[in-house]
Amino acid sequence: MASPPTSSASHRLFDPAGAACPHATYRDLLDTDPVATMPLSQGAIISRYEDVVFALRNPEIFSSEVSEKLDLGTERPMIPQQIDPPRQTRYRKLLDPFFSRRRMKNLEPAIRRNAASLIESFLESGQCEFNQQFAIPLPGQAFLHLFGLPMEDLSLFLQLKNGIIRPQQQAADPFDAAEIDSIRSRAGQTIYAYFSELIPIRRASPREDLMSSLVSAEIDGTPLSEEEILDICYLQILAGLDTVTATLGCLIAYLAANPEQQRRIYEQPSQIEGAIEELLRWETPVTGVPRIVTQDTEIAGTPLRAGEMVMLLLGAANIDSNEFDEAENVDFERSRNRHIAFGAGHHRCLGSHLARLELRVALEEWHALIPPYSIRAGEVPTYSPGIREVQYLPLSWTARR
Ligand code: HEM
Repeated sequence: MASPPTSSASHRLFDPAGAACPHATYRDLLDTDPVATMPLSQGAIISRYEDVVFALRNPEIFSSEVSEKLDLGTERPMIPQQIDPPRQTRYRKLLDPFFSRRRMKNLEPAIRRNAASLIESFLESGQCEFNQQFAIPLPGQAFLHLFGLPMEDLSLFLQLKNGIIRPQQQAADPFDAAEIDSIRSRAGQTIYAYFSELIPIRRASPREDLMSSLVSAEIDGTPLSEEEILDICYLQILAGLDTVTATLGCLIAYLAANPEQQRRIYEQPSQIEGAIEELLRWETPVTGVPRIVTQDTEIAGTPLRAGEMVMLLLGAANIDSNEFDEAENVDFERSRNRHIAFGAGHHRCLGSHLARLELRVALEEWHALIPPYSIRAGEVPTYSPGIREVQYLPLSWTARR
């Protein structure tokens, strides 16, 4: 059958109906329109692995300084995601050790306890709605441990994060632009105020947590200013919660729908790490990242103009057959897997060690405690586009007596 017109492929990317299974759309873009026009001509969508990696590695042409184009309730660019090298590199040098594999490992016992306790709360009922009951709270709890904050603040942080990312859900009229703006900016102001109050508290009595590290941190002998600390903390809420929630949902939804692959995990739990990497590639929950073109250039023969927005489509790049052997085959033992689900280059995910820890612990506890599971009969999971969160994931299993 002939492919649909390519312009519709770029539209389908933003359509919730296509979010459950975007691979056919990715394939259309890779094969026929690797530098496509975004809906409403808002810029370009770049799909091929080689081109996406080139853009990620050349921030002087593809800048991350997009804060004025994307309203996320901020007063300044978020650090380090919305600034370019060389400033960004100085922050990464400071922050990378705070997020090292070794430092994150300290959080493992707490994350494991939280995962087990969430599962215990619904295990006997033989069913759950995975997103609300597991995938949303677990990363929120990990975030609170990282910052040394009380668990009672979980619902506040979830509400603030949603106020920024999906303010429509909190609006009386989801089409009222003024109301949406005010919800988002109120959430932003509350985040700044919350962390502003915490800074002097941790300065006065430091602990073993991220905020204590930030208040005593220096770059070239100069302590971070209050604004810098706030701009780092603000990003943590947006970068570290929904991404893990979305990945947990995509992973478990895939395994629920593919019993053969699920059986592999039960029979050989040592495959969990390979499964996580392969499903990060296949599902790519953060489907794309934005950049702004700084100078006239071209990609794959298509001209791009200075000032134009581009979307680097990580999801499509991750199934590009020029990079991945049998790209459409989900293989937990894939020998070479240079997926870019965490990005690449200067802005590669700062939290990838924490993310991998959360995912591994969650999958280990889940498969140790829950018997084989499936999508609840007669129900259909629903996905969101952009960040592919499985917003509704009803699961069931036979409860042990
Ligand atoms: C599976 C979960 C996650 C995925 C798929 C993911 C994905 C990504 C991607 C694709 C980028 C690159 C953005 C760009 O190039 O513009 C990124 C950057 C970032 N991520 Fe993650 N992320 C995850 C979890 C986390 C967690 C748990 C944290 C915090 C603890 C975090 C913090 C960050 C930060 C701070 C950046 C910006 C880095 C910079 O600009 O230098 N992420 N992430």
